[in-house]
Amino acid sequence: MVKINTCVFISGKGTNLKKLILNSLNYNFPIKIKLIVCSNKYADGLKFAKKWSIPYFIFDNKNTLSEKKVLTQLKNKKINIILLAGYMKILSKRFIRSFGKSILNIHPSLLPKFKGLNTFENILKKQEKKTGCTVHFVTEKLDEGNIILKRSFYIDKKDDVKSLKKKTQNLEYNAFSEAIIKLFR
Ligand code: GRF
Repeated sequence: MVKINTCVFISGKGTNLKKLILNSLNYNFPIKIKLIVCSNKYADGLKFAKKWSIPYFIFDNKNTLSEKKVLTQLKNKKINIILLAGYMKILSKRFIRSFGKSILNIHPSLLPKFKGLNTFENILKKQEKKTGCTVHFVTEKLDEGNIILKRSFYIDKKDDVKSLKKKTQNLEYNAFSEAIIKLFR
């Protein structure tokens, strides 16, 4: 099958990235990960780039030259889609416009609820009954683009930030791949 050239952006542990790489190795999965962009040179997630020999680039999003370099690499590698998998920085409007193709993000709440940071703390404070994750298109407004899919679960009285995070991340691992299949297969 012809696979879509994909770049994944990360900042931390990269557990979503790992799942995406493993799925992408499957013949029927519609993406090929050709580049990893990371906001932090010490990020744990870079070990997955090294393990599977995927080229990676450390991106300082506050630096215009670094932004230009990423855009050049995206062009050279003919990247058609960017997946933000735990990328904790905000992409500039200029970057989003210059790339000009689809960018997808995974967010650990049921959008439009709980945009931005400190998601789990805020969910617990509001005593929500349900939570989950959302895969959506990235636009110039934070956590605002069209939603591709959401996955949810009921919050237990005993849940705390740590357990909510764990349950949400377990949902995320399949949700991101399901969203890709929904869009491209
Ligand atoms: C995920 O929970 C994602 O929703 C959030 O950052 C976390 C990244 O985890 N934006 P990892 O780096 O994929 O392990």
